[in-house]
Amino acid sequence: YIGSGKAEELALLGSELEADLFIFDDELSPMQQRNLETTLGVRVIDRTALILDIFAQRAQSREGKLQVELAQLKYGMTRLAGQGLALSQQGGGIGTRGPGEKKLEVDKRRIRRRIYELGEELKEVEKQRSLRRDRREKNPLPLIALVGYTNAGKSTLLNALTGADAFCEDKLFATLDPLTRTCELPDGSSALITDTVGFVRRLPHLLIEAFKSTLEEASQSELLLHVCDASEPELEEHIKACERVLEEIGAAEIPRIMVLNKADKAQTLPIYKNSISVSALNGEGINALKAEILKRLKCNSEQFTLDVPYPRGDIISLIHRLAGQSSIEYLPEHARISFAASREDADIITAALNQPD
Ligand code: GTP
Repeated sequence: YIGSGKAEELALLGSELEADLFIFDDELSPMQQRNLETTLGVRVIDRTALILDIFAQRAQSREGKLQVELAQLKYGMTRLAGQGLALSQQGGGIGTRGPGEKKLEVDKRRIRRRIYELGEELKEVEKQRSLRRDRREKNPLPLIALVGYTNAGKSTLLNALTGADAFCEDKLFATLDPLTRTCELPDGSSALITDTVGFVRRLPHLLIEAFKSTLEEASQSELLLHVCDASEPELEEHIKACERVLEEIGAAEIPRIMVLNKADKAQTLPIYKNSISVSALNGEGINALKAEILKRLKCNSEQFTLDVPYPRGDIISLIHRLAGQSSIEYLPEHARISFAASREDADIITAALNQPD
């Protein structure tokens, strides 16, 4: 990974600074990590281990915690074989190899068992998630996902759009668990908005894998709000990192609104296609964003007229939720409702009408 001369130089620098730990901003193979530990004489971790560590501190829900633990174990498993400094007390050297190796085998078996258990628990949680999704499909509201670089202000924006009390902190990856809330749009219709885990540049593959089910929420949405911090000097890089993850989870083709957040803090506002500037913190631009969301959701809507028998209040409220503004004519036998909706939503409404209450 680095030449031996550079490693010596780092070892000197490390002892001069009395460093306890070296963190490499890249992925290290177990062998590289071991060799570096030997040369540097202190613990060495890589980018993945650091991100995993932060994730471990932030995970709140059962699913988030399970996902992180599983990713940590899978990561640790490949590194167990020669846990350089950590296991060196146990073995290494003639005569001690036996017990050391035995401990390794026991550790591996224990970890494998735990990986299996976690996988089973996660399957259970995922089943519940898909049940929730099915329920949502039966009562369909458009789903919008917030995506963006970590600390861009996604949770704050979720709060501003929905009045929810999502956890937002000036910390990286404060959100690991997807939160879904209802947002009311200017025409009275509603949409579901879901927060996602913050993206980073070179998000380690292991983590994309671990959070796939969480990120799936984004790939199944109708519209993405790509939230970026407009005051961030490395904005361009952050946007690219986010786009790469979207590609990886199969969400690159979903229509998108670029939300340039923290407009209150930005010196100049960058120009992007389909963008809208807001300040999630002081509410500036939030109504304009809602109007834009509505426009994008309804851009393929058509005009429909439906005769609804009076006892079917459920259909009237479904039209209200899916189609927003509508007009009602009260005829003797039924109500005649005219509304604008997408063809898919109109099909859902008609199907519901044809089913008994
Ligand atoms: P992750 O959970 O790490 O993905 O972060 P996030 O994108 O959800 O960011 P979060 O909403 O937690 O906000 C991060 C920080 O930015 C917090 O300290 C917010 O108060 C701050 N912030 C969010 N929106 C704005 C804004 O419009 N203006 C300013 N000045 N600060 C903001």
